[in-house]
Amino acid sequence: MNFKEEMFGRIDRVEEILKEYLPEEKGFQKEVMSAMEYSVMAGGKRVRPLLMEAVYRLFGGKDREIQPFMAAMEMIHTYSLVHDDLPAMDNDEYRRGRKTTHIVYGHAMGILAGDALLNYAYETALKAFDFPNTDTKTIARALQVLAKKAGIYGMVGGQVVDVAMSGKPLDRERLDFIYRLKTGALMEAAMMIGAILAGADTEQVKQIEQAAADIGLAFQIQDDILDVTSTTEILGKPVFSDEKNNKTTYVTFEGLEEAQRQVAELSNGAISVIMEIPGEKEFLCALIKNLIHREK
Ligand code: IPE
Ligand code: IPE
Ligand code: MG
Ligand code: MG
Ligand code: MG
Repeated sequence: MNFKEEMFGRIDRVEEILKEYLPEEKGFQKEVMSAMEYSVMAGGKRVRPLLMEAVYRLFGGKDREIQPFMAAMEMIHTYSLVHDDLPAMDNDEYRRGRKTTHIVYGHAMGILAGDALLNYAYETALKAFDFPNTDTKTIARALQVLAKKAGIYGMVGGQVVDVAMSGKPLDRERLDFIYRLKTGALMEAAMMIGAILAGADTEQVKQIEQAAADIGLAFQIQDDILDVTSTTEILGKPVFSDEKNNKTTYVTFEGLEEAQRQVAELSNGAISVIMEIPGEKEFLCALIKNLIHREK
């Protein structure tokens, strides 16, 4: 397998799915649909839908009912970015290589576009019920995971503590809590939903949740590393955003080298767990490995 070629092919499919599921821009409220499209179609790395689909395949999934969930996942992730960039939060003006949504559409529309993406994510995921021969219980279980991991016990909960602790000294326990929730939770949701929809059993879903938690933690540590080592051109978002917001990060806490070591250790641990599971995993493992040294 040529990993890069395979990855770009899969990303193209994710883009197609997103376009298919985004709402038509019409009606008196069409400005919000335009802002939704602007933020979603700006070209993120699409890591969460890629992970979801790869885990779905690992457990033998072959149908299309995964697609509304892939779109929903990216909508929730994008809403989290739109709100994360608002002046009241990280106050950043670039994202995915363009001006942030609130800069282009105004603050009120930035807030509303985020709200709209969050709600529309559920409207989209619920479309999985319309596919023929689907097991409604399985879809309901996937929806439970999506809802919980996006909320106060997941991403929102992590953002709450992240914001509350800005500029304050943090211990390792609270730093871990923030990362496992603000970033880990959506990775967990993505991978667990892939497993659930493919028919994995409870034990297997737990195993995937654990691996995803470590991938998510590694992903956020790498994000902190890139915040101080990369450039705005490569990242498509401002560097030194954490310093600007007086954030304690893994880099300020552990130093750059130790942070890098932990990214590799966490990711390799997750790969070993996945290696134990029978099924198609070449792309999944290559993707996780690629995230360790990612440049954006
Ligand atoms: C950025 O996520 C926010 C974090 C959770 C670190 P990504 O790095 O996945 O952003 P996009 O989707 O590629 O823009
Ligand atoms: C945000 O973490 C994670 C989210 C839930 C959006 P960061 O604030 O570090 O993400 P970036 O660096 O702005 O993408
Ligand atoms: Mg933030
Ligand atoms: Mg931010
Ligand atoms: Mg960051």
